Amino acid sequence: MSTTRRSAAEAYEKTNTRIFPSSGAAAKELAAEVRKLIEERAKQSKHVVLGMATGSTPVPFYRELIRLHKEEKLSFKNVITFNLDEYYGLGADHPESYARFMADQIFDHIDIPKENINIPSGKVTSDQVFAHCRDYEEKIDSLGGIDLQILGIGRTGHIGFNEPGSSRDSLTRRITLDRVTRQDAAADFRGEENVPHFAITMGVGTILRGKKLVLMAWGDNKADMVAKAVEGPMTEAISASFLQGHADAHFYIDTGASRELTRIKLPWLVGPVSWTPRETRRAVCWQAFQTKRPVLKLIDEHYNEHGLSDLLSEQGPAYQLNIRIFNQMQHTITGWPGGKPNEDDTYRPERASPYPKRCLVLSPEPQDAVVAMGSTIERLGEQGNDVHIVAMTSGNLRVSDSEADKFAGTLQELAGVVENPAAWGPQTAYAREALRLLEEKGEFGEDPPLIRQLKALILRGELRDAAHACSVSTERVVFMDLPFYEQGRYRRFKSTEADVEALVELLREHKPHQIYATGDAADPSSVSGLCFKVLSAALKVCAAEEWAANCSIWLYRGKEKALEPHEIDMAIPLSPMQLERKARALSRYGSLSSLELASPESNRQNARNYDALGLAEYEAIECFQKWRRA
Ligand code: GLP
Repeated sequence: MSTTRRSAAEAYEKTNTRIFPSSGAAAKELAAEVRKLIEERAKQSKHVVLGMATGSTPVPFYRELIRLHKEEKLSFKNVITFNLDEYYGLGADHPESYARFMADQIFDHIDIPKENINIPSGKVTSDQVFAHCRDYEEKIDSLGGIDLQILGIGRTGHIGFNEPGSSRDSLTRRITLDRVTRQDAAADFRGEENVPHFAITMGVGTILRGKKLVLMAWGDNKADMVAKAVEGPMTEAISASFLQGHADAHFYIDTGASRELTRIKLPWLVGPVSWTPRETRRAVCWQAFQTKRPVLKLIDEHYNEHGLSDLLSEQGPAYQLNIRIFNQMQHTITGWPGGKPNEDDTYRPERASPYPKRCLVLSPEPQDAVVAMGSTIERLGEQGNDVHIVAMTSGNLRVSDSEADKFAGTLQELAGVVENPAAWGPQTAYAREALRLLEEKGEFGEDPPLIRQLKALILRGELRDAAHACSVSTERVVFMDLPFYEQGRYRRFKSTEADVEALVELLREHKPHQIYATGDAADPSSVSGLCFKVLSAALKVCAAEEWAANCSIWLYRGKEKALEPHEIDMAIPLSPMQLERKARALSRYGSLSSLELASPESNRQNARNYDALGLAEYEAIECFQKWRRA
């Protein structure tokens, strides 16, 4: 099922690392291991101590444990758990507390005795913190220590909440959360300002006392940290790197999270490579960046000196290899994302006919597509194609209470200034109810349906406005409000058949020639990861239909790691004016994160990369990869 590290990779990978084809496959394997452990101990009438983690990462694993309990009668009666951490200040009933998360995601669905569950309390008073943490440590030890510790990894490389600076021997304690960690939790808490500043966490030393450790990571966004933790030096700056010093520590990762490992990124340094066109292009681009030379100026010696002599002997000399790759990359550049009508399209990324094309731009949350490919959307429309922007989910969880409050307040005030206030009865009642509900639920409470609806309406307005800035008219903006989103919260979403059916219906109605989508490289439980899963399932349903066979699917990257030059199949250059217009379209959104607002800068970086490879020099580029369906 998985790729274990090859021996040559061991020189780079300092912790056992297994790459699985998907998070589901890894979760299944780990759950099977846990099952074995629980059953063996049960036979000896002994307990098992599991160290539990929170976040979206362990969710597929917890779902598999629940399935094993429900369908295969696995009992958790002899299981004792210790959670890694808890936000300081949150009670167990707070919707974002880890206690609540664990109850929702696993404990309420299995037969673990309540008294066997241990989670640090976020509510102990400051003067009790020390004793509480010491007791937690002692309790772990008194039960014989943790048999298996499950871990995720944060964007700062933390395990538990052991932020940069945590020492190898640190124990359970209260810590201050890093800014990056608080930004990452901002969506859960609907705004960074609402994220607690402190947490109680097991220390690195506590974690390392576990007999076996398994760190899971999914999706591109974890790739940098995984590589640093597995291949870099052991350092307090990345607490996950301390797993290198543990005799039975393992990384279980998916292909997305493996991208920055040497054996994946620079496979020629590790062993023999099968030189597919993509790997060849990767090697040539790397070579060019490495030597700071454009592709056409690389010479045989460069290849030989950088471990690429077998590529040269297979596809060289350098002169010819360079030209071939240069031409391939040159052909990715086009000003015609929908294909150029009546032109030879032999070397163009998109075919010329049919023209005009019906294009569906799928945006997981309303803002995603405009952020990532606003200029391409504009270009498609200008060139006569029939473009629809589809907001797959309402995105309402992104909107802060203060925004909702502002809108409801304005609506209520309007009633006082219109000529016939009586005719405004329903609107006034709606506004009053919204304001009452906001007040009632308080800062952290869960949004009742009316508030989610109001927040969705705010985002609808923003998307219509941003679409307008990309020359897409209001009637061409589709709001799907996929049910998985309406019923969930961040890190806990779960798609169902109803989502797939809704998308199938939309696809059949539009019969698109082109679909733009994202999420293939995302954490599979993120909104974009789930939307991609729904798209894959919907396309499978429609596979035999004529339109589907002729539909090209272009993948864009939103919040995930940008495409690298060798991965790009279509590059849409932007002039300074176009980039400026895109930035203006983005400013229409009140809810964009700093990462999303930086999208124009990432477009500029794409252009700098092309320039460095010796291709044309543009202001910015929006990039796409063709999805080659299995
Ligand atoms: C929080 C938790 C960590 C977790 C991390 C990553 O910081 N304290 O234990 O690993 O989030 O979360 P996710 O799995 O959602 O990416």
